[in-house]
Amino acid sequence: MRIILCGFGVVGQSLVKLLDSRSEDLYARFGLKPRIVGVTDRKGSAQESSGLDLSRLIEVKKKFGSVKKYGNGKNKQTGLDLINNLDADVLVETTTSNYKDAEPGMSHITSAMKQGLHVISVNKGPLALAFPSLMELATYNQVLLKFSGTVGGGTPILDYAKNSLRGERISSFAGILNGTTNYILTNMANGMTFESALQDAKKKGYVEEDESLDLDGLDAAAKLVILANWIMDFKVTLPDIKRIGIRKVTTSDIQKASKNNCALKLIASCNKDLIVSPKEISLNDPLCVNGTLNAISFTSEHSGTQTIIGRGAGGIETASSILRDLLDIRQEISKN
Ligand SMILES: NC(=O)c1ccc[n+]([C@@H]2O[C@H](COP(=O)([O-])OP(=O)(O)OC[C@H]3O[C@@H](n4cnc5c(N)ncnc54)[C@H](OP(=O)(O)O)[C@@H]3O)[C@@H](O)[C@H]2O)c1
Repeated sequence: MRIILCGFGVVGQSLVKLLDSRSEDLYARFGLKPRIVGVTDRKGSAQESSGLDLSRLIEVKKKFGSVKKYGNGKNKQTGLDLINNLDADVLVETTTSNYKDAEPGMSHITSAMKQGLHVISVNKGPLALAFPSLMELATYNQVLLKFSGTVGGGTPILDYAKNSLRGERISSFAGILNGTTNYILTNMANGMTFESALQDAKKKGYVEEDESLDLDGLDAAAKLVILANWIMDFKVTLPDIKRIGIRKVTTSDIQKASKNNCALKLIASCNKDLIVSPKEISLNDPLCVNGTLNAISFTSEHSGTQTIIGRGAGGIETASSILRDLLDIRQEISKN
C-alpha cells in the first residue's frame, strides 16, 4: 500500500515509527505492507516511489528540522505536488487543524479524493468545516474517507458508536472531548485559579499553540461536528454549534458545583441541539473523569447509557488510530 503523508509532526513521526517497528508483524498478521512514497512538512518534501527509508526519515527530520534534507535538500514540492504527481493509494493527512479555511488539509484531501486516493485524516479542520460535502466527494469518487483519530485520539470512540452499537438508535450523547480544558478544570477543582491552572497546562505542553482552540471550545466543537455527522446522520458544520468555552469559569463556579456534589466540566452534547459549554456533572457519573482524560456517554434506545473513557490525544495513540484506518482500507480494497 503506497502512502503519501502530509504533515510530519508529532502524529506523522509517531506513525512512521509505528510502521517501522511493526513492519514484519503487520505483514504476517494482516498482509499489510505500507510503503511511504512521499512526505511533506512546511519546508519541503521527500519522495521515493519504491518507499522511503523510515528510520532515515526520522533522523533527517530530527537533525535538520525538515524532511526536504532527505534527498539533495532542494525538494520544495508541496503536499499538493506530491498528491498530483506520485502514484499512491492512500493519503494520510496530519497537518495542523485550522478552523478558518481548513487549509492546507482541505486541498490535500479534496485533491487526493479526485485522484482516486483513499484518505485518512487526523486533521479535524476540513471535517469540521465541510463534513457533509467531503463525504459526498468520497462517495462520488468511490474512495474511503477515514478519520478515527479525530475524536478521542487512540480511544475508538467513533468505531464504538458506529460499529459496536450498530442496529441501535443512539438518541443522544454527551462527552468531555478536550483533555486540556479537563486538565485545567480539574486543577481548579483542586484549588488553583484559572490563570495558574492554565500556566501549569502550558508548562506540561498540553495547550495548543493557538490557545483559543482549547479554551474557547473550538476543538471540542470540531469533534462534536464529526460525531454528529457520523453517528447521528446530521448534516452540520462548525457554525451550527452553540459554543461557550472555559475562559469565564471562576473559582466560585467550581465551588458551587462542588457543593452540589458535582464537578464543572466542558461538555459537548448532542440532543436536539449541538452545544459545547461548561456544565455541572455529578461526581458519581462515569462521565466525570479527571486530568487529561476524555469520556463520552452514548444513550441508546435499548442498551441504555454506556460510557467510554480513554486518553484523547497523544502521538502514538493517534498513530494507532491511523493504523486501524489503514487496516480497514486494506480490508475494503481486498474485498473489491
Ligand atoms: N497530537 C495529538 O495528540 C493529536 C490527536 C488527534 C488529532 N491530532 C491532529 O493531528 C494533526 C497533527 O497533529 P500534531 O500533533 O502532529 O501536530 P504538529 O506536531 O504541529 O505537526 C503538524 C505538521 O504539519 C505540518 N504543517 C503545518 N502546516 C503545513 C503546511 N501549510 N504545509 C505543509 N505542512 C504543514 C508541520 O510542518 P513542520 O514540521 O515543518 O512544522 C508539521 O509537520 C493536527 O491536525 C491535530 O489537530 C493530533
